[in-house]
Amino acid sequence: RAIRLTDYRPPAYQVETVELRFELDPANTRVHCRMTVSRNPACKVQGHELNLYGKDVELVRLSVDGIERDKNTWVIDDETLTLSGMPERAVVEIETLIHPDSNTALEGLYVSSGMFCTQCEAEGFRRITWFPDRPDVMARYTTTLVAEKTNYPVLLSNGNPIKRGELDDGRHWATWEDPFPKPSYLFALVAGDLACIEGDFTTRSGRKVDIRIYVEHENRHKCEHAMDSIKQAMRWDEETFGREYDLDIFMIVAVNDFNMGAMENKGLNIFNSSCVLASPETATDADYYNIQSIIGHEYFHNWSGNRVTCRDWFQLSLKEGFTVYRDQEFSADLNSHPVKRINDVNILRAHQFAQDASPMAHPVRPDSYIEISNFYTVTVYNKGAEVVRMIRTLLGAETFRQGCDLYFERHDGQAVTTDDFVAAMEDASGIDLTRFKRWYSQAGTPVIDVEDHYDPQQQRYQLTLRQHCPATPGQADKKPFHIPLLTALLSGDGSPLPLQLEGTSDSMAPQHEMLLELFDQEQRFTFTGVAERPTPSLLRGFTAPVRLAIHRDEQTLAFLLANDSDPFNRWDAGQTLAVNVLLKLVDASQKQQTLDIDATVIEAFRATLNDPRLDMALIVQALSLPSEAYLADQSESVDVDAIHAARMYFRKTLAEQLYDDFARRYQALQSDAPYRFDANDMAQRSLKNLCLSWMMETEKQQARELCVQQFEQSSNMTDTLAALSTLAQHDFPEREKALEDFYTQWKDDPQVVEKWFAIQAGSRLPETLQRVTALLEHPAFTLKNPNKVRALIGRFCQGNPVRFHAADGRGYRFLADRVLELDSMNPQIAARLVSALSRWKRYDPTRQHHMTQQLERILSHEPLSRDVFEIVSKSLDAS
Ligand code: ARG
Ligand code: ZN
Repeated sequence: RAIRLTDYRPPAYQVETVELRFELDPANTRVHCRMTVSRNPACKVQGHELNLYGKDVELVRLSVDGIERDKNTWVIDDETLTLSGMPERAVVEIETLIHPDSNTALEGLYVSSGMFCTQCEAEGFRRITWFPDRPDVMARYTTTLVAEKTNYPVLLSNGNPIKRGELDDGRHWATWEDPFPKPSYLFALVAGDLACIEGDFTTRSGRKVDIRIYVEHENRHKCEHAMDSIKQAMRWDEETFGREYDLDIFMIVAVNDFNMGAMENKGLNIFNSSCVLASPETATDADYYNIQSIIGHEYFHNWSGNRVTCRDWFQLSLKEGFTVYRDQEFSADLNSHPVKRINDVNILRAHQFAQDASPMAHPVRPDSYIEISNFYTVTVYNKGAEVVRMIRTLLGAETFRQGCDLYFERHDGQAVTTDDFVAAMEDASGIDLTRFKRWYSQAGTPVIDVEDHYDPQQQRYQLTLRQHCPATPGQADKKPFHIPLLTALLSGDGSPLPLQLEGTSDSMAPQHEMLLELFDQEQRFTFTGVAERPTPSLLRGFTAPVRLAIHRDEQTLAFLLANDSDPFNRWDAGQTLAVNVLLKLVDASQKQQTLDIDATVIEAFRATLNDPRLDMALIVQALSLPSEAYLADQSESVDVDAIHAARMYFRKTLAEQLYDDFARRYQALQSDAPYRFDANDMAQRSLKNLCLSWMMETEKQQARELCVQQFEQSSNMTDTLAALSTLAQHDFPEREKALEDFYTQWKDDPQVVEKWFAIQAGSRLPETLQRVTALLEHPAFTLKNPNKVRALIGRFCQGNPVRFHAADGRGYRFLADRVLELDSMNPQIAARLVSALSRWKRYDPTRQHHMTQQLERILSHEPLSRDVFEIVSKSLDAS
């Protein structure tokens, strides 16, 4: 059942042009597809077979060169239809019937809030018509949509609109033409009654691009931020990567029912409503930030993904890793580099490192899969972005840019591989990346052991670095990785020392930061002329996705927290310090000893909170404790209760000790300026709200009153939601009233209602599972809407470890029940949820038993989707 990279063969036939005609009707849509196919010269095997893929489509008629083919001239096996005896060139015509209104998988053509829309990546086009639905088949598309006029006044597809007209039965039609060859996964159509918000952008070569955002009428006031973000993204890609937009029109459509965040269909990006709509009253700073970055991401795909696409789905990171790297740089340039880096590393450590250590571990370029939808992962996306970032670090910014230019120029219009990407980087730089490519093929997070030695007589300082990488499924032994480590040596006053590596000639200008490249299993770096014993600052800016195994005492960490000139490492030292303290508390809590925190730790926090030189956004990062998930990852075996208890104790103790400091800062940060999405205002709000949540840990009357006051009086969702989520963590009478009032006020706004579900599902209060179960019956909840599922069930199972992992297993049973309900409806969403059980081995025997019991229960269910089967069977294989 598994598909393997080594089985790749070029297609026997290419498609030159596709003409599609859709007669749109919710119950029965007729699709007419006419394509010109020709033998692929790149396909070496002699064969005149055309392979088409289809799923849940009714084949009405099929003809080749105008001659209707009989059923016995083709073979259907599962999702494949093989037409044999094909001529060198032919016109193939296929008519199919599909049923958008009963399509709950949200793949292919479906109906959402009364509008037609599509999601074709990765293999959704085969739910529309029989087609060579694979990314290395690129064709030019012309699409005609026919639909009833009053319900569907807006008819959209890829490319440029070329013709439209009316029929005399109340229907109208529109034809779109996309001049760029593309794979079928980038096809899209939309039809509905939508408001259109218009803007424009003139590219640097003078092309005037019309920008259109289509949304439901009641949301037309929520598009300003998206419009600004599109223009920012267009300008940024020109300035940073020299990439210009290539059509006369760029469209975004907001859709309520969507499996993922958004999709980069050529010229017609389709977005989950929650990733595009925003107003100060209904969206938080985090939403604004997210929208800007996702709009950037999808827009950047126009080059990294669309103009140059993937040969097969094993190459997914070719477009996703690269595009995530691009969107990360975009957000960093528009906001703050250190804050963005910290956030990205937090995601990587809490989720990607965990995936690398799980039964679902896979390389950035996987070598096999059962269902490709399961590989839209933090490994392919976020670790993939780290791999691109390492190439940038190794080549330097300028050469990296030349490598990108070469890649785009060389492969424009082609479907290529990650090897092609690396080859362009090698050719542009002259650097050999052979060993570096192991980052694409080997899974797992490398661990780097560090040993150092200082010789005061010789003034020599020696760093010994050793790497090893834990085994992952199918990969017991790993070869060494090529790891770039940006390094500095700090003197006693915190300033970086000039660096001179033994055996290299004196450089004119002394370097204070050096890129050490670790290729081998073990390497030694000797620095000369080192006048005092330095404190090493390693992996500055997190130049590689690795774990540093370096023993540092609390004094050294506190020194780095106060002095490191690299903002990332300064933050990281604080986190490590907090992890160490927390893990000691975990240990004490397991041994039922009394818990206690050293005064120096508390004073370090106080100093950070009150440091007038520190950027407010960085104070927030420094005072945010490592998550329970990250602490779990750092433990031998996970004790959810002890981790929760330790973290709670830390929060409560610190809150008591620093109450006055928090309260002072909270008051000083009040402002009644109107909401603006701007780095400084955001930092101010987040520090203020961080103070509030710490103050609330004391449960003091004053804190409660301030919290309720902020909840009732704030005019922006950031502050309202901050107050409400804090209230939701405490069993006060104010809590229920606030939750009720909030729902009453916002019940007509789906995005806000999702926040309301998520806050309740994330509450650490002991009754949370009962609450979540009751909310399944709430009129605003439906399993059919992925955002609601993510908000309520996803948040509970993936964002509330202490309640989800209840020792009696009821959290697991709850999850398995939902997975089985969802599996026949929307397998992609079911599979995402079930992965919450895949790391069962990390828990105690009782929990292991409860978890595997539910996994086995799911596995024995018939029928079971490929998606869920893959996750569950691989999870159980690990036993
Ligand atoms: N290419 C989209 C993006 O990253 C995501 C598409 C996800 N599709 C899927 N079947 N999981 O922007
Ligand atoms: Zn993407």
